[in-house]
Amino acid sequence: MNCRVCKKKAVIAIPRHNTAFCADCFDKYLMDQVRKTIKEFRMFSPDDRILLAVSGGKDSLALWDILTRLELDVLGYHLDLGISEYSKESTEKTRLFAEKRGYRLIVEEIESETGATLPVIAESTKRPPCSACGLSKRHLFNRAARQYDCQVLATGHNMDDEASRLLGNILHWQDGYLEKQFPALPAEGGLIRKVKPLNRLTEKEMAAYAYLNGIDYVIRECPMSADAKQIFYKKILNDIEKESPGTKQFFYFGFLERSQKMFPLSKETSPPSENCKMCHEPCYTDICSFCRLKMKLSPFPESSETEDTPITFITPNIS
Ligand code: AMP
Ligand code: FES
Ligand code: ZN
Repeated sequence: MNCRVCKKKAVIAIPRHNTAFCADCFDKYLMDQVRKTIKEFRMFSPDDRILLAVSGGKDSLALWDILTRLELDVLGYHLDLGISEYSKESTEKTRLFAEKRGYRLIVEEIESETGATLPVIAESTKRPPCSACGLSKRHLFNRAARQYDCQVLATGHNMDDEASRLLGNILHWQDGYLEKQFPALPAEGGLIRKVKPLNRLTEKEMAAYAYLNGIDYVIRECPMSADAKQIFYKKILNDIEKESPGTKQFFYFGFLERSQKMFPLSKETSPPSENCKMCHEPCYTDICSFCRLKMKLSPFPESSETEDTPITFITPNIS
């Protein structure tokens, strides 16, 4: 199999585009896809500082590399969830990646924030782990963005993540979630602008990019989300894709085209009705869901006035 562009030996086939690339042409293709996404959805302004949520997996580490190559101002943020060996490896790989390249990284621990690791939180609050995890990430990502003067939050969600999420949202007609499933969401209600620059690239393409660029990432899946429906939906979509290449992309991008008509994004940014009485982060009720989660773990939490925000390490100095 040869590269469709330069005829050298191909390293990756991309059946949905009926093409194959050598390493150099694949790199150009992938960078073009990210540039196109950033431009099309107007993800960044020239003066933006980006808070990039980095899990230690292939997508977010690769995105860090890509955004840096595009000369954007990026600050990495990793949340250590305290999920035994999985989190140890994730934090270690993220930290090593940042150190080797001299990238700026903030690491926070869910245990320092709540007094408990994610498995303990899930057990004590009887919440599904992924729900407690998502809630905590949303809160802490947003807080970090404000603290470090970042105007936009970027995550490494790829096309497979987005298409499987879309399938789940449609199967259950989750209108509220469908409305929010756009790769660039404006700042709203005190919450920072959010973008997903990898939404045009598949899991396989991101793994190939990581491999070709020597990125050492966590391969195993989170053990707490091992039975998540998302994995099942990904498998179904991959089975369909095998039979009929291009269907996944058609499904997801077909939705995005229609969603702008179905759910037009408001240009106005609505202020939050109030700030949380405990942590002062924006929220729509008296007490935000993250503080309510903390209260379930410890019924008498300290007042936020006396709380520090523990940060385990930062590499190198943030300017
Ligand atoms: P996932 O939901 O695990 O597929 O992750 C999707 C994206 O969320 C990743 O690409 C990261 O950008 C971000 N993310 C997930 N887990 C973490 C974490 N522990 N710390 C920081 N960012 C994360
Ligand atoms: Fe959130 Fe596993 S990463 S539950
Ligand atoms: Zn709060």
